[in-house]
Amino acid sequence: MAEKPENTMNIQWYPGHMTKTRRMIQAEMKHVDAVCEILDARLPLSSRNPDVGELTAGKPRLIILNRVDLADAAATKKWAAWFRSQGYAVLEVNAKAGQGTGRFATAVRELLKDKLAAYAEKGQTGKVVRVMILGIPNVGKSTFINQVAGRRTAKAEDRPGVTRAKQWVPVDRTLELLDTPGMLWPKFDDPQVGLHLAYTGAVRDEIMDTETLACRLMEYLGRRYPQALLARYKIEVEDADTGYTLLEKAGRKRGLVLRGGEIDTERMANILLDEFRSGRLGRFTLELPEDREAANG
Ligand code: G4P
Repeated sequence: MAEKPENTMNIQWYPGHMTKTRRMIQAEMKHVDAVCEILDARLPLSSRNPDVGELTAGKPRLIILNRVDLADAAATKKWAAWFRSQGYAVLEVNAKAGQGTGRFATAVRELLKDKLAAYAEKGQTGKVVRVMILGIPNVGKSTFINQVAGRRTAKAEDRPGVTRAKQWVPVDRTLELLDTPGMLWPKFDDPQVGLHLAYTGAVRDEIMDTETLACRLMEYLGRRYPQALLARYKIEVEDADTGYTLLEKAGRKRGLVLRGGEIDTERMANILLDEFRSGRLGRFTLELPEDREAANG
């Protein structure tokens, strides 16, 4: 019987491949000392694989909050504190620029200090520490690994359904990384997660048309970051505004007027998403630890 793909986000994640990946991760778990999970600092929960807690249970874990250059700095601090309170080691990183990546090896050794001390006591010095790198597509895994290991290699093919050969990547004489042996999927059954991934462009395929997506983003920015809309588009957010009216206001200010005086909201939608994703609109975080707690009651 053919597998039924999970395609809520128009990405096809086949249950069979997910099972295969899960098994590979479980099998490799025996060979690693720690797990390093890479998240997008702008959406730490939505960029998390829903099964990662169960898959990595019992292993020392390090969270990389990546893309801090695009995230709200105050929110990143909150997330770092929140993950630390949950028992994770945390690093704030801009993998693209190599900021924060230099602290990785030290952070791993600090995380494993008891284990390393026990080895040293037994005279087993120079033992190689192995860390599994996990993350959903596009979160920055290759960029991070390349920075940490100082390598410049072409990216392995990375798409749902393709489990690639495992790769051990040396960082130094006693630290090795295990590149994810397959694709980790996001929590695609939650529409809010889909929206957040779509805003940031993590999901390439459209979950909805561009204009609707931009309206939802405008609505959010109007509520949480009105000052950014004022600074970039010179628009004031009023109580009666909807995402669509804000898109119209911004389009009008940009001079995107069609024949007949109508605003070209479709063009404005593309501009908004592009400027949001590239950081030109500012630095944003879409989820905060307190939202999470509110959602969980
Ligand atoms: P993956 O292996 O997890 O699939 O992700 P990958 O490293 O390929 O990164 C996906 C995109 O995210 C790349 O952009 C990469 O440059 C960018 N990126 C990774 N980390 C950061 C970061 O900390 N900050 C910012 N701003 N961007 C980051 P791309 O457009 O696909 O390639 P490129 O043109 O940037 O090279």
